[in-house]
Amino acid sequence: MAEPQEGAPHRVEIRGLSKSFRRRSGAGTIKPIDDITLSIQDGEFLVLLGPSGCGKTTLLRSIAGLERPDEGSISIDGTTVYDSGRGIFLPPNRRPISMIFQSYALWPHMTIFKNVAYPLRSRKSTRRLGHAEIAARVEQALAKVGLVGLGDQYPGQLSGGQQQRVALARALVSEAQVLLFDEPLSNVDAKVREELRAQLVEMQRELGFTAIYVTHDQAEAMELADRIAVLNSGRIEQLDPPRRVYQRPQSRYVAEFIGSANLVAGVVRSLDERAVVDTALGSFVIEDYTEHWTGDTPLGTGDSVTLMFRPEDCLVDPGPDSRSNMWDVELVRTSFTGVQQHLLVHSGDERLIVLTTNDAQYPEGAKLRLGVERHKLHLLPPVPAESGAA
Ligand SMILES: Nc1ncnc2c1ncn2[C@@H]1O[C@H](COP(=O)(O)OP(=O)(O)O)[C@@H](O)[C@H]1O
Ligand SMILES: [Mg+2]
Repeated sequence: MAEPQEGAPHRVEIRGLSKSFRRRSGAGTIKPIDDITLSIQDGEFLVLLGPSGCGKTTLLRSIAGLERPDEGSISIDGTTVYDSGRGIFLPPNRRPISMIFQSYALWPHMTIFKNVAYPLRSRKSTRRLGHAEIAARVEQALAKVGLVGLGDQYPGQLSGGQQQRVALARALVSEAQVLLFDEPLSNVDAKVREELRAQLVEMQRELGFTAIYVTHDQAEAMELADRIAVLNSGRIEQLDPPRRVYQRPQSRYVAEFIGSANLVAGVVRSLDERAVVDTALGSFVIEDYTEHWTGDTPLGTGDSVTLMFRPEDCLVDPGPDSRSNMWDVELVRTSFTGVQQHLLVHSGDERLIVLTTNDAQYPEGAKLRLGVERHKLHLLPPVPAESGAA
């Protein structure tokens, strides 16, 4: 197995990676990895986030060596494991990674000891280990995850949290430094899932492994990630820490996928340090607009844009001297989550979502005045007319 290079800047480097499949229906091809370049740092928790079918699993399997890409290169710990140009393709067992599957996939009929020992016993290419060495390594791995003394138990006797630790021990026993997770928590009950996530973050910080974690669940991504790569049809749409992805979405796709977003089409009327944008709801003033514009090219007067604001940034009936943008709406429906009140409102054809912690009760059909502060508005590129997304 490759020795990690001291001081290597990145654990995993992916360059220009592409992979196509012939469609299962037989008609044409799809490209679930489309020119992806991505570096993952040592000890980083990177989440690949996107809807079902966007290519997350294919990318993870390519890093693991379970899938052979068409183009590009992948190196792990400074060793090239795949390079299309140089014809290099190392099989999974020669890559310093461990893959962790859905629901953690422990073998129910094997003791914890045997589950954890499995990767050591099934190694094909490396030297065979003796019983004593295997036992020592397993005990070490169990100690790492705080499960000393549970080796004789079966998975069914352990709590969900303990089972997750066994899966981590099994992944770490072969001394892999990079753990690849493919939606391990997607079949777990919501309540348990929250506990397991919190525990996983703690374990990762403590043990220091590098994680590449696939999920379609944005809340999970936000909680776990140091950085989130938001994937859209095989491409990285945005790569940033969770807070930045939420507060500065680069596109409408990201804004809608992470949290919920109110999106209103507009046209730029004027620009100085602030922008004035005309919409069907009226004119909006955006303070310091260059900070709030996510397009690649400078904004110009007359440009079409998408105005975006988060539901929780909407103020209901702000006072008359508020410096917010204000407009009138009619209440369609309310619902109460215990922490917040959701208001669905409309103005003409525009439907908007408002989240408020005030617990005033508004009757359906109530006329409300909404406000959004001038620095809580974002300007995104307009959406080209799309033929329904996948
Ligand atoms: N072996 C394969 N043959 C043909 N199509 C595949 C194969 N594996 C995946 N795909 C297709 O590639 C796309 C991406 O799949 P996948 O990487 O599993 O997405 P995700 O994990 O984000 O849901 C999907 O349209 C899927 O049907
Ligand atoms: Mg998948």
